[in-house]
This record gives sequence, structure tokens and C-alpha cells, in this order.
Amino acid sequence: MRFFSIVFFISLSLFANDKAHTFASNEDCKACHPLIYDEFKASMHANSLPQKDAILNAVWAKHPKHLKAERFECGKCHTPAADNLDAMLSSDKKALPDATNPTHDEGISCAYCHRIKSIEHHESSNTNIISQTEKNYYGTLKEHIQSPYHGITSEGNEHIKNGNVCIGCHSHRMNNHKLNVCSTNIDNQMDGANCVSCHMQKVEGSVSNLHERKEHTFHGFAGAHFHSEMLSKYVDISLAREKNGFVINIDNQSSHALLLHPLRTAVLKVIVTRASHKTQLKDEIFVRVLGKDGQPAMPWIADVTLKDTMIQGNEKRSIKYDFALEKGDTVDVTLGWFLVNPQALQKLGLQEDTTSKEFHIFKEMHFSF
Ligand code: HEC
Ligand code: HEC
Ligand code: HEC
Ligand code: HEC
Ligand code: HEC
Repeated sequence: MRFFSIVFFISLSLFANDKAHTFASNEDCKACHPLIYDEFKASMHANSLPQKDAILNAVWAKHPKHLKAERFECGKCHTPAADNLDAMLSSDKKALPDATNPTHDEGISCAYCHRIKSIEHHESSNTNIISQTEKNYYGTLKEHIQSPYHGITSEGNEHIKNGNVCIGCHSHRMNNHKLNVCSTNIDNQMDGANCVSCHMQKVEGSVSNLHERKEHTFHGFAGAHFHSEMLSKYVDISLAREKNGFVINIDNQSSHALLLHPLRTAVLKVIVTRASHKTQLKDEIFVRVLGKDGQPAMPWIADVTLKDTMIQGNEKRSIKYDFALEKGDTVDVTLGWFLVNPQALQKLGLQEDTTSKEFHIFKEMHFSF
């Protein structure tokens, strides 16, 4: 078992927090880190703003911070390289997402992430502390050649070393009703595994084109939208035959719940084939429904978790089927998800959005008897 510590800072620290800084643009990295750049550009971190993410756009369209306050408070995590981040985070200002502002378009940018020096813990959400030295990036390479473009700081940053540089944005987010709407268990339970080792695996191809290396760290951030196939090895699916039916066991070996965002819905689909006749058994649904007054509600209105059937971190879930299997039967098992709960599509005006409504296959298994 492996633990890590969050450094608790006094909020008075000199260069604290939530301030807009100037960052080199993603485009600047392309010439020397072309593979990493291409992976990143296709990831949700490069597409984390309303004009590039239809789901965020739909939620933002209904959000009171948009309609009443006209302030993209979400920028703290969604557009942290914005040059007007201060305004986005000041309750007396207005600051909407601006498609014509190139610093908004940077998303969770290369330089931003590589300048996270430390992380302050707060109740509502954590805060990243950004280093003051522009063009000096934290890294983890054991040895490296000099970069003609930027400095490299390998010492003194425990967060990038222990793979927890992500928890400034990912650990939790509490709404005004003190409900944690999105929470990642940040105690990594699996020996040696952490956010980075699971979500940023080593893949073929050089780190830069100035110094040939066999592999680099994948910057496409495997997750619920993209590259989930890289993560399916952390979720085992097995089938055990019983007298009057069978049981499917889902063993989630990751440290956090299978899906984290409350919009998601995971589904287990099971089809039994007997002498070429297919029987589709009842879908098993895994969701976390937030609500108010007993009714499902949007995350900013909700004050309670109405229902949580999501498979938790390190949980082994068994689902029983009272369908007696016979010799010669085959069972096809599919675990996957909808990025947006089908019941919320209409409310969000996402009925026509393919990304939101399509069933995303995570893992398929075939069993024969
Ligand atoms: C403390 C950091 C933080 C803040 C502040 C924040 N978010 Fe997020 N948001 C995240 C993270 C991290 C994810 C990815 C979660 C996941 O995939 O499980 C995310 C994902 C989302 C998604 C899902 C997008 C998709 O493509 O599926 C929506 C919608 C969203 N956020 C809306 C908002 C809105 C609206 C605000 C502001 C009112 C906001 N968020 C503020 C961290 C934050
Ligand atoms: C002119 C070429 C060049 C440009 C432009 C460039 N880099 Fe680098 N970078 C390098 C070289 C060379 C290395 C060292 C590679 C090695 O040793 O294999 C490196 C290494 C790194 C490392 C790894 C440090 C470590 O020790 O782990 C990071 C992080 C990094 N660069 C970030 C960036 C970012 C962010 C940008 C864009 C804002 C960028 N680089 C632009 C050449 C460049
Ligand atoms: C500055 C805040 C921030 C930091 C730091 C950050 N993330 Fe994210 N991350 C986000 C937001 C916001 C989203 C959701 C973007 C969206 O869907 O619009 C996200 C989305 C993701 C996703 C979902 C991708 C998908 O396909 O659905 C993964 C996986 C992820 N981040 C992993 C990481 C890892 C690993 C780290 C640390 C190396 C990290 N993040 C650091 C803010 C951050
Ligand atoms: C043992 C491997 C493992 C570790 C450690 C791990 N994850 Fe995951 N993560 C997964 C798996 C498996 C999934 C589900 C498959 C998917 O979304 O593609 C997932 C999904 C996610 C998602 C998408 C959830 C959604 O609803 O959109 C985010 C975001 C994420 N992880 C962030 C993190 C962060 C941040 C950390 C570190 C605190 C972390 N993960 C640690 C394996 C891991
Ligand atoms: C969400 C945070 C995040 C973003 C965004 C990000 N990186 Fe990284 N990057 C990391 C982490 C964490 C590591 C260390 C991986 C490890 O220890 O295995 C890393 C490693 C690297 C390395 C070291 C070499 C390697 O492959 O291990 C380079 C170079 C690099 N990043 C460049 C970039 C560039 C260029 C971009 C944008 C195109 C970028 N990074 C965007 C988090 C990020």
C-alpha cells in the first residue's frame, strides 16, 4: 500500500493561488515534442472549454454562474491558463469564456501543468500553486539533455514525482450545498500505481526530436472519452456458473470509482447464445444520481446523493442472473458507458450529440460452456 501526503499550506503564502500567470503556448512545444503535442491536442485537457466540449457547453448554458453571474468560475480547472483567470475567480467581476481569446483556447496547457509547484488543500476544491519562473518546467526524467528552449527542474517537486500532480483539480469539487459533486479517491491503494502510471502510460516514440529515446509518456490522458482501452486491464470481468444461474464478477482494481462524473452511466450488457438463438438479459445500470427534495437535480442544485450504484474503487461487484446455463451456451458480456445519462440528454439539449448519446464499449468478454 502506498500513501502520499498533501502539503497543507497557509493560505497567506506570498504568491498564492488562483492568479493569472503568463504561460508559453502549447504551440511552442510542438517543434521539439511533436508526438506528445499530437497526443495532448486530441485529449480532453486540450478540449476542456465550452466551445470544444459539447457536454461542458450544454451544462454551462444552464449554469447560474453563466446566466446570473456571467463569470466562468469553472476556469479554475477548465481554462487555468486564461489571462483573465483572476476575474473569473472574483465574485465582483464578469468574465465569460471567450472563443477569440487564445489563452482560453490553451485548455489545461502543457506549460500550466508542468509549472504546478505544489497543491493547497481547500474544502471546496484544491488550488494549484504555479511556479514563478516562466519557461522552467518540472519533469521526472532521470537524466536529460539540455533544452535550448526551456529550463528543466527535476528537484523539489514531490507531486510530479509521486504522480499526484493531478489532484489540484481532480480530487474533489464541492458545490454551494456542501455536496461533493465529483470526487476521486486520491489514496492510491494499488502497490506502485498512481494517477500518472495508469492514465499516462509509457508508449513508443521519442520524448523529443533532439534526442532519440525509445519511449515517452502518453499525453492523450486515457479516460472516459478517449483511449479507455489502455485502462481496461484494471477492471477484471469473470463469470461463475451456479446451479440455477450464473454470477458475473466485476473487479475494479483502480483506486477510484469506475466513473467519476455524475453525468455518466455505466451499463453491463449480457447476451446468452444457445443454438444460434440469442437472449438478451436485463441490463445492469451503475449510476450516481444527485438530487434535491427526492428528485434528480443538476449538480449545482443538488444537496444529496439520491442513489449510488457506481462500482467503487477496489470493489468487487457480483451481479446474479437467474438464467441456468447449459453445455454449448456462450455468454457475451459487455461493460461500457454513456458519457451523459440518457435520461438527462433532453434536458441538456444533447439528443443529437453523438459523443453524449453513444454507448462507449470499455471491455468485452466471451465465455463458452
Ligand atoms: C476543481 C476543479 C473543477 C472546477 C472548478 C470545475 N470543474 Fe468541471 N471538471 C473537472 C474535472 C477534473 C473534470 C473531469 C471529470 C471526469 O472526467 O470524471 C470535469 C468535467 C466536467 C464536465 C464533464 C465534461 C465532459 O466532457 O464529459 C462538465 C460538464 C463540467 N466539468 C462542468 C463544469 C462547470 C459548468 C464548471 C463551473 C461551473 C466546472 N465544471 C468547474 C474539474 C472542475
Ligand atoms: C527547442 C526544442 C524544445 C522546445 C521548443 C520545447 N522543449 Fe521541452 N525539452 C526539450 C529537450 C531537448 C528536452 C530533454 C529531452 C531528453 O533529455 O530526452 C526537453 C524536456 C522537456 C521536459 C522533461 C523534463 C524532465 O526532466 O522530465 C518537459 C516537461 C518539457 N520539455 C516541456 C516542454 C514544454 C511544456 C514545452 C512548450 C511550452 C517545451 N518543452 C518545448 C526541447 C524542447
Ligand atoms: C488544471 C486542472 C487539471 C489538472 C492539473 C489535471 N486535470 Fe485532468 N481534467 C481536468 C478537466 C477540467 C477535465 C475535463 C475536461 C472536459 O471534459 O471538458 C479533465 C479530464 C481528465 C480525464 C478524462 C479524460 C477523458 O477521456 O474523459 C483524465 C483521465 C484526466 N483528466 C487525468 C488527469 C491526470 C492523470 C492528471 C495529472 C497528470 C490531470 N488530469 C491533471 C482538469 C485537470
Ligand atoms: C489502477 C489504475 C488507476 C489509478 C491509480 C487511477 N485511475 Fe483513473 N481510471 C482508471 C480506470 C480503469 C478508469 C475507468 C475507465 C475509463 O474511464 O476509461 C478511470 C477513469 C478515470 C477518469 C474518468 C472518469 C469519468 O467519469 O469521466 C478520470 C478523470 C480519472 N480516472 C482520473 C484519475 C486520477 C486523477 C487519479 C489519481 C488520483 C486516478 N484516476 C487514478 C484507472 C486508474
Ligand atoms: C495534465 C498535466 C500535463 C499536461 C497538460 C502535459 N503534461 Fe507533460 N507530463 C506530465 C506528467 C505528470 C509527466 C511525468 C510522467 C511520468 O513521470 O511518467 C509528464 C512528462 C512530460 C515529459 C517528459 C518526457 C516523458 O515522456 O516522460 C515531457 C517532455 C512533457 N511531459 C512535455 C509535455 C508537453 C510538450 C505537453 C503539451 C503538448 C505536456 N507535457 C502536457 C503532465 C502533463
